[in-house]
Amino acid sequence: MKKIELKTSATVYNNISELSTADKILMDKAIEARAKAYAPYSKFSVGAALLLDNNEIVLGNNQENAAYPSGMCAERVAVWRAGSEYPNVKILKLAISASSTLTKVDKPAGPCGACRQALLEYEVKQKQAFPILLMGEVGEVIEIESLVSLLPFSFDSSYL
Ligand code: THU
Repeated sequence: MKKIELKTSATVYNNISELSTADKILMDKAIEARAKAYAPYSKFSVGAALLLDNNEIVLGNNQENAAYPSGMCAERVAVWRAGSEYPNVKILKLAISASSTLTKVDKPAGPCGACRQALLEYEVKQKQAFPILLMGEVGEVIEIESLVSLLPFSFDSSYL
């Protein structure tokens, strides 16, 4: 028997202006995408921007549905869009921004479990980790180095 310890490290920026120029551009794109979210039920809007290795930035936002479970999160809209349009291009980075018309989202919102699993698929596929920048509407930005660090002991293609 042995005990193992898993560590997740993150970088916390005080606000968006502390980001590098390239990361700020990507987060601004996520904010731009967020503004077009279709979230009439939850009033919680999320925008996602994926930077690809061919310099394209692919956007996504949450798309809700009157039949609630039929809606989709921003991260999966973006990653499936990238996967379908650019199947062989690596993802270099993901930026996510969240806001609500009901409350000021002043802390970063992490991707839900299902989105983590969906995003991990592409990290495993491309054999290269991609960092994630998380932000609310205002306040701190958290940078996490990889999907796998957000989803330890995960299920992936190596089992199949
Ligand atoms: N949402 C996302 O778009 N991404 C997440 O990772 C968490 C939740 C959306 C889904 C739904 O439209 C709204 O936020 C409230 O849950």
